[in-house]
Amino acid sequence: MTPPQATATVAPRGLKNLLVADTQIGDVRGEEGFYHYRQYSAIELCEKRTLEDVWYLMLEGRLPSLAERETFIKETAPLREIPPDVAEALPVIAHGGDRFIPLDALRTAVSLTAYTLDFKPVLDCDAQTLRANALHLCALTPTLLTALYRLNRGERPVPPHPKLPYGANYLYMLTGAEPEPRHARAIEQYLTSTIDHGFNASTFTARVITSTGADVGAAITGAIGALSGPLHGGAPSRALEMLDLIGDPDNADAWIRDAVRHGKRIMGFGHRVYRTEDPRAIMLRRVAEELGGDIVEFAERVERTVVDVLAELKPGRRIYTNVEFYAGVVMELCGIPRRMFTPTFASSRVIGWCAHVLEQASDNVLIRPSARYTGPPPPQPIPDPA
Ligand code: CMC
Repeated sequence: MTPPQATATVAPRGLKNLLVADTQIGDVRGEEGFYHYRQYSAIELCEKRTLEDVWYLMLEGRLPSLAERETFIKETAPLREIPPDVAEALPVIAHGGDRFIPLDALRTAVSLTAYTLDFKPVLDCDAQTLRANALHLCALTPTLLTALYRLNRGERPVPPHPKLPYGANYLYMLTGAEPEPRHARAIEQYLTSTIDHGFNASTFTARVITSTGADVGAAITGAIGALSGPLHGGAPSRALEMLDLIGDPDNADAWIRDAVRHGKRIMGFGHRVYRTEDPRAIMLRRVAEELGGDIVEFAERVERTVVDVLAELKPGRRIYTNVEFYAGVVMELCGIPRRMFTPTFASSRVIGWCAHVLEQASDNVLIRPSARYTGPPPPQPIPDPA
């Protein structure tokens, strides 16, 4: 094997624990079970502020005043409307394959949007244009997603409701009915909690693409692609499927032991960064309890069993509940179909990605690492065609 070039630093596999950038957007403290947006606890923001306020915070770097909140809502409301050229193409995208995969459809629609709206390369844009492009994609993503879902089912897309805030409007566009306020607030809190979460794979992807000077649409399309991988976007629906399979709380202990003994992962538990309970799980458990219902009681009993069994069978690993367990429960209680669970997560994560795009663009350097070549020593003679 050729030794790495003298100046190269060998990064840990998977870039684990490697600091690759400075950011003022937020961070995750895994040992403490804490994460923050800018200088505020993300969970406290979910509890005390609207999604629009946190969106403003992520893009502008500070929380809005009441007047700024109103102006921001007025500014973003028309951006939720699907541009006519994109609307025309959506039925084709929604029926593009044998299986409807909402995130793949969204990725295609976002790319088309940036293309038809003529987003310019980040490198050629001033800060105002970049902000406008970012705001547009953040505002439009929930509309695109819900329209694609409905079109695939043979239903007419529901245009954004002029009076409803972000969370309520999401449920409205998905179902066609104005949601109960408690469902709207629960989903708003969930969506706010998933806006950003450290330098994860999709966020890093968005920053790498931005660093090349490509347009905001390219960065967000790439980020959606990264999120669509099961190791990242996961599948909160799998946690609910597990509850279905367990069926009765009395079966939980035996079911979980059997699964772990067969080398299976228990969905909704464990995290790469948290060595405590995921703070999002704690908040969403509370939200689920407020919504109430048999499924919540059942989920809580299963949760306690999983944590106990994993502590016994995987001693010292510190495996606790992650965001996906109660995210699934909350979304189910609010009437979101299971196939839309991860896409729903994406619909607000786009805000976090855009904040990172703007930050990367404001102090850009091309992200271009190197790899160690491990193939046969070059140059080998080129064989003649056989
Ligand atoms: N069920 C059973 N065993 C587990 C689990 C689990 N959920 N999580 C970790 N372990 C065990 C694992 O088998 C390993 O055991 P051993 O040392 O005997 O081989 C040990 O704990 C350490 O596992 P690891 O894979 O090195 O831990 P990790 O920190 O890399 O894994 C994880 C993180 C999320 C991939 C993993 O916990 C997992 O697969 N969980 C289930 C899937 C899930 O819920 N994913 C959503 C994660 S939250 C998404 C987000 O934040 O966006």
